[in-house]
Amino acid sequence: MRVAIVGRSGQLGSDLMSAFADYEPIGMDRRLLDIEFPSTIAMMLSRHRPDLVINTAAFHDTEACEVRPDRAFAVNTIAVDGLAAQCAASGAALLHVGTDYVFDGRATIPYDESAPPNPMSAYGISKYAGELAIRRHLAEAYVIRTSGLFGLHGSSSKGPNFVERILAQLEQGTTIRVVTDVTFSPSYTRHVAAAIRTIVDRNVYGTYHVTNAGYCTWHEFAVEILRQAGGDARVTPVTSDAFPSLARRPAFSALRGDTIERLGLPALPAWQDGLREYLRERDRSRGGISALR
Ligand SMILES: NC(=O)c1ccc[n+]([C@@H]2O[C@H](COP(=O)([O-])OP(=O)(O)OC[C@H]3O[C@@H](n4cnc5c(N)ncnc54)[C@H](OP(=O)(O)O)[C@@H]3O)[C@@H](O)[C@H]2O)c1
Repeated sequence: MRVAIVGRSGQLGSDLMSAFADYEPIGMDRRLLDIEFPSTIAMMLSRHRPDLVINTAAFHDTEACEVRPDRAFAVNTIAVDGLAAQCAASGAALLHVGTDYVFDGRATIPYDESAPPNPMSAYGISKYAGELAIRRHLAEAYVIRTSGLFGLHGSSSKGPNFVERILAQLEQGTTIRVVTDVTFSPSYTRHVAAAIRTIVDRNVYGTYHVTNAGYCTWHEFAVEILRQAGGDARVTPVTSDAFPSLARRPAFSALRGDTIERLGLPALPAWQDGLREYLRERDRSRGGISALR
């Protein structure tokens, strides 16, 4: 199978390149393929003739999406619509990465794939519209909704991930203030990429929730980061009012992977194990220097 990965140098894209390494995937960064420019998509499809296109590209700075909804819809909806149309025309399947922000956060138990989306932010609405646009063109599509990603490669648009920001504050000795009123499923991109690989190998199209198992508040996540990294700083609990924001974010967006379970695919490790593996790999990539110096 020929696989093309759009957004190859992003957080998740980098780990997808590794997860599909045996297929020698065609990795596309924005200089080679910009999904907003249909001619670059056409060039990739005709030159490489992929059987599957994996799209991680998004405009996903939630605050920036509120300021520039036109950009959010251009990248997350219109460009995805065009990508799906061209995939359909060339006979390629599409795997598209979606978000927990398609939900309104009023639930008290994790959202499974049958839960009705009701996004509240420009980001969430544009991403959900992207999912719907795919359906317009393709039955051969996977939509993989994930949440709270942290990966070794970092995100070019959002800067250091949450784990890195907490560790940096620890090193600088600044007061660490984290919200207690937002709950989600933190997810290690390497685990998400490995799960995506098992989904593709099973070859059943549809919507999947793919996160590390379990959920926590951002405050609980920060406490666990410090515990695993051996830091003894205190994490001051605050509520979201402490960080005024333009976007309405879901207060509870934990996801549950019913499709994975129904297909008998392996469940992802717990988020605490995702964090442990992330910190271990982080140390290894820095030549064995532990998170705390
Ligand atoms: N990060 C999270 O916590 C999170 C949570 C839930 C869902 N998601 C979804 O997961 C996906 C991957 O997230 P991530 O954290 O891995 O993002 P990321 O690190 O920012 O990577 C996204 C990649 O897409 C590329 N890209 C952006 N706009 C593009 C365009 N118009 N054409 C082609 N490539 C473009 C970026 O290239 P440049 O570096 O050149 O800009 C970047 O390499 C996104 O679809 C996002 O909506 C993320």
